[in-house]
Amino acid sequence: MKSYYWVFPFLLLHINLLKADTSTDESLDANLLLLKTGIGYMVPFPEKCSEILSDYADYASNFTKCSILHARPIRICKNCIEHYMSFHDKYHELLTTVVNGTSCKSVFISRDRLDAILEYHDNIMGIWEKGHCNACYDWKTGQPVLSNETIHFNELFNQTIDCIMKYIVPSSNDSKVVCDNCMQSYIKLDNYYKTLSADAIGVDSICMDIVDSMNTTRSIWSKTLNCCKVRRTPEVVFLVSTGIISLLPILYYLVLRYCSPMRDLPNVLKQSRFKQSILRSLGRSN
Ligand SMILES: *[C@@H]1O[C@H](CO)[C@@H](O)[C@H](O)[C@H]1NC(C)=O
Ligand SMILES: *[C@@H]1O[C@H](CO)[C@@H](O)[C@H](O)[C@H]1NC(C)=O
Ligand SMILES: *[C@@H]1O[C@H](CO)[C@@H](O)[C@H](O)[C@H]1NC(C)=O
Ligand SMILES: *[C@@H]1O[C@H](CO)[C@@H](O)[C@H](O)[C@H]1NC(C)=O
Ligand SMILES: *[C@@H]1O[C@H](CO)[C@@H](O)[C@H](O)[C@H]1NC(C)=O
Ligand SMILES: *[C@@H]1O[C@H](CO)[C@@H](O)[C@H](O)[C@H]1NC(C)=O
Repeated sequence: MKSYYWVFPFLLLHINLLKADTSTDESLDANLLLLKTGIGYMVPFPEKCSEILSDYADYASNFTKCSILHARPIRICKNCIEHYMSFHDKYHELLTTVVNGTSCKSVFISRDRLDAILEYHDNIMGIWEKGHCNACYDWKTGQPVLSNETIHFNELFNQTIDCIMKYIVPSSNDSKVVCDNCMQSYIKLDNYYKTLSADAIGVDSICMDIVDSMNTTRSIWSKTLNCCKVRRTPEVVFLVSTGIISLLPILYYLVLRYCSPMRDLPNVLKQSRFKQSILRSLGRSN
């Protein structure tokens, strides 16, 4: 019996410790913690904010998936516009919603150095802006509608690709048939594209779906089909005839100089001082 007395001091000590866990000391600590870290640890987020955040995450992942799936060939602007709009609007809602005096923005954005929510937002906006996707659309009504330029370009692009598909013979690498038949569509497409932007590459302001379609078409046209070679023939003819024509005056004087007697020179030549001086020098060297 006596041997158990030594336990009591420990029991008392232990009870004291347990008491300390729920004492005023602890609630003071909790208040300090609350002040330091803000809500989320001790107090749950406003339910409305959590719902918005959850939707925001869904829209962000839907857009991300869409943009990855339509990255090659680029059709992000055309195919992901709805996801983009939802995402954009939801972010706006996240920034502006205030529940019982607590704004969702103050709860979720810029609370720490990682700032993941904002970071994802900036990444998605970065993709969208880098692709100049807004330029594909007409925003006059407030809602995005494919602009007339985009629609017209797509028609010309569609015609050119359809034409190439129609005339190409995969087994042969003689592309003359394709080049001849599709030259009209291609030139029309290329010229229309050039009207869309001040600079010929068009990366400055044209919607990326269009830039990429044109880039691919140009690459198919000049590299895969090698159609520029065919096109060069008229240029060579043009250059040669220009050369001959520009040589004609010299030829004319040479003929005069060697093939006709000086006294038979036509009177017309004597009309200007310049021509007279030429005549004189010709006569002198004779
Ligand atoms: C995300 O995409 C999936 C599949 O297209 C769709 O079922 C879902 O409704 C979308 N979610 C949102 C929040 O738009
Ligand atoms: C706002 O606060 C009041 C009282 O604190 C509470 O009854 C109400 O549910 C809160 N509203 C929302 C939307 O959380
Ligand atoms: C686009 O085309 C539609 C119908 O052809 C026309 O009503 C509209 O005014 C055009 N918009 C622009 C910006 O040219
Ligand atoms: C062009 O448009 C026609 C009809 O709308 C369609 O059948 C065809 O697949 C389109 N071609 C391309 C390359 O998009
Ligand atoms: C077609 O291409 C193959 C390889 O790319 C080449 O060996 C062949 O000589 C080409 N034929 C003609 C007719 O150019
Ligand atoms: C066009 O395509 C080539 C490769 O085919 C690529 O290197 C280049 O960056 C593209 N240009 C643009 C403006 O996308």
